[in-house]
This record gives sequence, C-alpha cells and structure tokens, in this order.
Amino acid sequence: MNILVTGACGFIGSNFIRYEKENYNDHFIILDKLTYAGSIENIKDIIDSITFIKGDICDEVLVEDIFKQYDLDIVINFAAETHVDRSIIDPDVFIRTNVYGTGCLLKNCVKYKVKRYHQISTDEVYGDTALDSGYRFKESDPLCPNNPYSATKAGADMLVMSYHNTYGLDTVITRSSNNYGPAQHIEKFIPQMIDRINNDKDILIYGEGNNKRDWLYVIDNCNIIDQIMRKAPCGIYNIAAGQEYTNLDLAYKVLDLMGKDHSYIRHIADRKGHDLRYALDITKINDLGLFPTGDITEGLRKTIAWYKENRSRLEDEKTDDYNEYLRKNYGE
Ligand code: NAD
Ligand code: DAU
Repeated sequence: MNILVTGACGFIGSNFIRYEKENYNDHFIILDKLTYAGSIENIKDIIDSITFIKGDICDEVLVEDIFKQYDLDIVINFAAETHVDRSIIDPDVFIRTNVYGTGCLLKNCVKYKVKRYHQISTDEVYGDTALDSGYRFKESDPLCPNNPYSATKAGADMLVMSYHNTYGLDTVITRSSNNYGPAQHIEKFIPQMIDRINNDKDILIYGEGNNKRDWLYVIDNCNIIDQIMRKAPCGIYNIAAGQEYTNLDLAYKVLDLMGKDHSYIRHIADRKGHDLRYALDITKINDLGLFPTGDITEGLRKTIAWYKENRSRLEDEKTDDYNEYLRKNYGE
C-alpha cells in the first residue's frame, strides 16, 4: 500500500512511522513542514527507506501534486500545532494548520479516491470534567473544547465527520489521552521536567497542580493507531491507558525516579482556562480486542533513560524561538 503520513517528524508521528517500518513493507510517504516541533533527526534511521517531502499540509499545490503522483491507499494525519500554551499566546497558526490543513487533505482524499483517511485527534475535544468526577468521555459525547488548540482539533474532527457523511469518505478518528515517551518536544510537561531536573532547576507547576491527565506511553498508542488504521470499521475511537495522575503526583514520580527530593517543586501562575481533568471510556477499542496496558512507572523509566542517552536533543530544542516562548509563557 501507499500510505501518506503527515507530521511524521514530530513526537507521535516519528514513533509511529518507526513502528510501521518495523512491521510492514508498505511504501510510506512523509509530508512534514519541519516546524520548530519537527526534526529530521527523529526519522534519520529510516529516512532512506521512505519518501520524505518537506512541505505544508496547507500548501494546496504541493498537496495535490502528492496525491496525483502517488496512488494513495491511506492518508494518516499527525500534522498539527500541538502545544496548548502556544495556542493561548497565538492561536492563528493553529487555526490554519489544524483546520485548513485538514480540509486540504480531505478534499484531495475525495478527489483522488483514497481508500481511508485517519485523523489523529485528542481527548481535549470533549472538554474537561470536575476533578472529583469519575466520568469518562465516550465517543458519542458532544464536543466541548475549551482552549484554542482543542477548538481547532474539534473543528478538524467535525470536518472529517462531514466528509464521511457528505462524500462517503471512509474515515477513522482516534482521540488519545496525553502521550509521553521518546522524542517529545522539550516544551511539554514531562520532557521539560526531565530537562530542568538534569540542570538542577525547579519544576514549574501551574497553579496548585491538582489538574489530572491520563498518561499513555507513545508506543502503546502507535500500536493501537496501527490496528485501527488497518482493521477497524469507519468511526471514532478513544485511546487511553487509565494511568490518571495529578500534575503534582506525576512531578513527584519523576523526581523520585531521577533521585531528587520534592523540594524541587515550584508553583507558578496557572495556565489560562486550564482544563481540570481529561478521562476517556475505552470500551469501544476493548471490544476490538485492543488493551493499552502501559504501566507509567516503567514508561517513565524508559523515557528518562531515552532522554539521558539523547541529552543533546533537549539542548538542540533550546533555540531562540524556544527562549522567546519561555519569556512569553513563563516570564523566564
Ligand atoms: P508534535 O508537535 O510533536 O509534532 C507535530 C509535527 O507536525 C511536527 O513534525 C511538525 O513539523 C508537523 N507540522 C506542523 N504543522 C505542519 C504543517 N502545516 N504541515 C506539515 N507538517 C506540519 O505533535 P505530537 O505531539 O506528535 O502530536 C501529533 C498529533 O497527535 C497531533 O495531531 C496532536 O493533536 C495529536 N495528539 C497529541 C497528543 C500528545 O500528548 N502529544 C495527545 C493526543 C493527540
Ligand atoms: O490530552 C492530550 C493533549 O495532551 C494533546 O492533545 C496535546 O497536543 C498535548 O500537548 C497535551 O496537552 P496538555 O496541555 O495536557 O500537555 P502539557 O504537557 O502541556 O501539560 C500537561 C499538564 O501539565 C497540564 O495540566 C499543564 C501542566 N503543566 C505543563 C507545563 C508545560 C505544568 O504544570 N507546567 C508546565 O510547565
């Protein structure tokens, strides 16, 4: 099969493409703009065995050329602006890439009769629940996003659903909880903690640190995405591992695993509109025989070890753009 994977130089996409190359002989075409969040380093071990195209999913001419040139069977879209804090500072690029870019891919899927379109979405599209709620969002729940990032992801999901309904395009949407693991950008909570501890700096916790997230090891997510992309009926699928932690408890866990005491915690001003708790009902994937089981302690151990071996990666990400972002977001 010819499979177009967009955003495969980022965190989840690069883990996914490596997983695919290890398990299948399909022809993979990668389209990635290489924004601040994407790096060719992430796929350097497999670059000779895939087709890499540097470009923007919003570039109408380029995207149509790719669809024309390759007889695509599947398009899977990881490409997105992904950091909530950046979306609060400047939403425009999120609207462009996440909504317009998705539309550009969908349009060509219909025109060139692609067999399946897979949208990589997020648990954030459902909005949040109260901290003490035991509720888990189901795929049939209404979308109720709370920040510019999640609003654009919800917009993209709605476009995908509309293309299925209107044009009969075969579509799947996977909505996963927070991923962690190798090659995540330093701006995200876990790599940032690892980097700050490595440099003997305090960990920065927004507000009280009681917000809850459900952490999924990235390889477990890739495994399930793969099964859904290849085998699942058209539809929407939640993916989570049921590893729910408050931010503070997660920070304690990372400190313990890295041999530091809890005095390294520093509370700072809260994120604007900070979602309290995300939680997903995963009955639908369980019914397909899919069970993400990753244990967070083991996953964090592997993640910390990866960043130890690849310490230069975090250093490479400390660019002028990153320093500017730190100033805007943390006043650092
Ligand atoms: P990331 O920020 O690490 O990587 C995004 C990739 O997309 C980068 O390689 C970047 O260069 C590329 N990209 C950005 N804009 C582009 C454009 N206009 N054209 C082409 N390429 C472009 O992202 P991630 O954390 O790996 O997330 C991947 C997908 O998974 C996103 O759709 C995100 O919404 C979703 N998701 C992420 C998480 C998570 O915890 N990281 C959880 C749920 C869902
Ligand atoms: O839930 C899925 C989403 O997870 C994805 O759709 C997003 O693309 C991804 O970025 C992630 O969003 P979060 O906002 O949950 O992840 P982040 O790593 O930015 O933050 C995790 C939690 O930690 C969140 O409650 C905010 C908090 N936090 C984060 C940072 C960066 C802090 O307390 N301090 C920090 O410095």
